[in-house]
Amino acid sequence: MTELEFITDLHKNSDRQGSGSENDTLKALDLSNLPTDQNLKVADIGCGSGGQTFSLAKNINGQITAVDLFPKFLNELNAKSQNLGLTDKIVTLQKSMDNLPFNEGEFDLIWSEGALYNIGFENGLKKWKDYLKVGGYLAVSEITWITQTRPKEIEEFWKTEYPEVYIASNKIKQLENNGYSLEGYFHLGQDSWIETYYKPMQARFENFLKRNNNSELARKVVEGNQAEMDLYQKIKAYYSYGCYLDRKNE
Ligand SMILES: C[S@@+](CC[C@H](N)C(=O)[O-])C[C@H]1O[C@@H](n2cnc3c(N)ncnc32)[C@H](O)[C@@H]1O
Repeated sequence: MTELEFITDLHKNSDRQGSGSENDTLKALDLSNLPTDQNLKVADIGCGSGGQTFSLAKNINGQITAVDLFPKFLNELNAKSQNLGLTDKIVTLQKSMDNLPFNEGEFDLIWSEGALYNIGFENGLKKWKDYLKVGGYLAVSEITWITQTRPKEIEEFWKTEYPEVYIASNKIKQLENNGYSLEGYFHLGQDSWIETYYKPMQARFENFLKRNNNSELARKVVEGNQAEMDLYQKIKAYYSYGCYLDRKNE
């Protein structure tokens, strides 16, 4: 197996592949002012195994196309969807988020939790805008500084990891410059990192290592994720996922 296959193996059989929680998804839905009683066409991009997809399916009318690059996550999503009786509301699509087969103005809502960074925030805003109807909704979460200043080494670290980390006002400006208006904003609290993402992942380490014969690559993946958790503990006062609820302008 490649390192990427080990990473997806570690993240399978879990509710989420990133920070967030059902409460956050519902809060975002509420703040977006979306007409949840209408029949909506929705894309959930970078859906993983569908944590937020199911919350959306239970709380809005219409059809959701759940998109991810990795079949392992989509297979899991389809199995869960069957168990939850949601197969008439959710279809899956294995595609890369930078090359989607969607039509212009096809969607009422594009949802994406913790995934847009894969193609870059501003790049994604531009690409996905075409798929939205005028007045359509965009809900994205994105790594964001939550303080105006932070220690230099933290800033330097993120500059190399993901140079597009900014404070929310800069991100909102990017949204506005690209033809969206802000409906609402909040950032994830620490429980949405620790309780619903890191702790469940940590609990999977032992089984993951066992089923992969404690191989060098499997250990490397665990060490990498442990290092990410340790880093989060150090810098959690300065950054989080910002949740941006927006509409495409006329
Ligand atoms: C941090 S996880 C978030 C998953 C899910 N939204 C959640 O919050 O639990 C990022 C997701 O993006 C997917 N992904 C990464 N690159 C992608 C790409 N180019 N196209 C589509 N999905 C991608 C990953 O497979 C993963 O499921």
